[in-house]
Amino acid sequence: MRRACISGVGMYVPERKLTNEDLSKMVDTSDEWIRERTGIRERRIAAKCEANSDLSVKAIEQCLRQRGVSGDDVDLIIVATVTPDMMFPSTACLIQDRIKASRAWGFDLSGACSGFLFALATGAQFIESGRCERVLVVGTDVMSSIIDFTDRSTCVLFGDGAGAVLLESSSDPELGILDFELRSDGSGGPYLYMPAGGSRRPASHETVDQKLHYVHQDGRTVYKFAIKYMVEVAEELLRRNNLTSEGIDLFIPHQANLRIIRSSAERLNLREDQIGINIDRYANTTAATIPIGLHEFSENGRIKKGDTVLLASFGAGFTWGSVLLRWAI
Ligand code: ACO
Repeated sequence: MRRACISGVGMYVPERKLTNEDLSKMVDTSDEWIRERTGIRERRIAAKCEANSDLSVKAIEQCLRQRGVSGDDVDLIIVATVTPDMMFPSTACLIQDRIKASRAWGFDLSGACSGFLFALATGAQFIESGRCERVLVVGTDVMSSIIDFTDRSTCVLFGDGAGAVLLESSSDPELGILDFELRSDGSGGPYLYMPAGGSRRPASHETVDQKLHYVHQDGRTVYKFAIKYMVEVAEELLRRNNLTSEGIDLFIPHQANLRIIRSSAERLNLREDQIGINIDRYANTTAATIPIGLHEFSENGRIKKGDTVLLASFGAGFTWGSVLLRWAI
């Protein structure tokens, strides 16, 4: 069987840091509350001139450089995001042009915080089937473009960033994407969503006045389901692949809240040194948290070639999933 593996990885976060201290001057909150309840210390915020594709291209350039290939070598570009540059054309098309991927086709995938895992599994199918040789999978979001910075219950949680991986067929059948389990339950929609801007409620003065173009969420409900469902799918993958928690070198969960991460890891019987955490510096970058983690943890040596890595995510939809892979770089 042809197996897909990650052969390159890159990330980009905007330069501007927004600290908890900065936020406490904007809304009624404190560094202590944010750190204790979420584990976040600071987040990055895109400059006025920076859109989703700008962040993505920087992450992709790093990824392609690492692998030593160019845009022309890419067959397919999948962009997981809920904050595209615009409704259409897709950010994948804008990126295709910018990186001069003259042979590539591409599309955006809307899976919210699970978008990167959905895109990774989708891209892997094109490699495994032999239809593509190189697939770029990007997880990228400019959450600051849809956050109400007067709402303390949401504005402290999110940040901007992009991560990209290149998928190719693995020369070693032991390495690469081993398995995945993806789920969705649309009945969870009202707990985390952006009410207007689509065909249900097109943009109007009224929708803007009512702040319907921002993230609305029931944080407690999201919190509860995030732990339950991420653990369920991760356990399913371990069971199906005859693995116990001991067999996992690094667990990289979606970074939404440090308490969600710790509770999930605890239920999976994972030790602290088996968990990849960077929420303190970037907050929740939605589709970008996991590829940013893959880049950072491979750069700092926490994941090495041959390591077994478990990914898990949960987000709007509801959507959730887990991917099991053996690191190939
Ligand atoms: N600063 C100070 N106080 C705050 C803040 C803030 N930034 N935000 C809320 N509060 C207040 C609330 O108003 C409430 O006050 P009250 O008791 O007087 O009404 C109090 O703090 C407690 O609020 P809770 O909602 O119970 O706080 P909780 O401990 O549940 O934490 C949080 C809230 C951080 C939002 C948590 O529920 C959470 O992380 N949920 C997951 C949401 C999420 O991550 N969504 C992102 C997308 S989905 C995903 O990525 C998984």
